[in-house]
Amino acid sequence: MTEKTFICRCEDLTKQEIEQAIDEGYTTLEELKCKLRLGMGPCQGRGCLLLTRRILCQKQGKKPTEINIPTTRPPEIPVSLGTLASEQP
Ligand code: FES
Repeated sequence: MTEKTFICRCEDLTKQEIEQAIDEGYTTLEELKCKLRLGMGPCQGRGCLLLTRRILCQKQGKKPTEINIPTTRPPEIPVSLGTLASEQP
């Protein structure tokens, strides 16, 4: 993983941007969500929250179990095409 690796593809956030925010004092996943919109894209953090937790662990010397994943409050829920196709009008 390089500095330019996209961690949150939905919100176009790189590892470097996330590490910079951590260095500025945003040290929890909730704070990073508020500052960067991390985890607030269409996938609702499925692609980025675990990776960001790993970055936090590396920078803070914590274990993954010490950092909670925020509760998701999805405004939308991904639905498979099969589910949509099987619904009756
Ligand atoms: S990858 Fe971060 S919200 Fe989708």
